[in-house]
Amino acid sequence: MNEEPVTTLPGRVLVVGGGQGIGQALAAAWPGQTTVWTRHTGVDATDPDALRTAFATFQQQHGAPFALLHTIGDFAEQPLLGTDLATWRHLFASNVDSAFHTIQAVVPAMVQARRGRVVLFAAAGVDKDKGMLRAPAYFAAKAAVVQLARSLALETAKAGLTVNVVAPGLIHHPHSHQESQQRLLGRVPAGRLGHVDDVVGMVRYLLSDAASYVTGQVLTVDGGLQA
Ligand SMILES: NC(=O)c1ccc[n+]([C@@H]2O[C@H](COP(=O)([O-])OP(=O)(O)OC[C@H]3O[C@@H](n4cnc5c(N)ncnc54)[C@H](OP(=O)(O)O)[C@@H]3O)[C@@H](O)[C@H]2O)c1
Repeated sequence: MNEEPVTTLPGRVLVVGGGQGIGQALAAAWPGQTTVWTRHTGVDATDPDALRTAFATFQQQHGAPFALLHTIGDFAEQPLLGTDLATWRHLFASNVDSAFHTIQAVVPAMVQARRGRVVLFAAAGVDKDKGMLRAPAYFAAKAAVVQLARSLALETAKAGLTVNVVAPGLIHHPHSHQESQQRLLGRVPAGRLGHVDDVVGMVRYLLSDAASYVTGQVLTVDGGLQA
């Protein structure tokens, strides 16, 4: 589906969580210019030491990345009062801790290089200032990701970085949550599930010159989903 002409970026794209789904599509969007970190490649992003070690190797080979795309974030659909402690901790480790540790390992080098784009992932509806009946612990974690991004945007703007959040709706891929996506399809005015390329398009924009003055924003890709 990726029929865009290949764009040459001014540096490497580091995709944290790019083994499947949206991250995998992003890793394929700039052929020969991306590095993928997942647990399958030996980098667990909930482990700050693993990230520091991996980034030391990355930096030796490539210097500071041009773009850091953090695409990790497990999902659980349980009411808040039915969410057990292990699930709560897992959702925050997967969505928030991994983003925090990744930022701390990688972004200082981007600041030093005085250029770069950071993209974190939340979920459609997270910035709507309303409760989320369907997956409240997941949305609480995604709200924390948004706040991390907004603060990081302010901290790094002077160094020439942009930091934004992509908030996908129901994006279909072989590992996505098929049952809940089919159940919610009727709430998508566009009348279809999203494709990973719908998200790739938004990230292409965020990594382009056209987006150099866009920072601290949540950009939703959801076909109008009424969550
Ligand atoms: N798909 C959707 O409809 C949808 C909707 C709303 C929001 N989102 C958000 O969009 C982002 C991407 O979604 P997705 O559906 O493509 O995700 P996904 O299918 O769950 O893929 C996540 C990727 O992250 C890696 N990963 C997971 N935990 C990791 C860890 N601790 N350390 C390193 N890598 C790890 C996984 O590989 P390993 O298992 O090898 O580590 C995998 O490659 C997520 O933040 C998700 O919450 C997705």
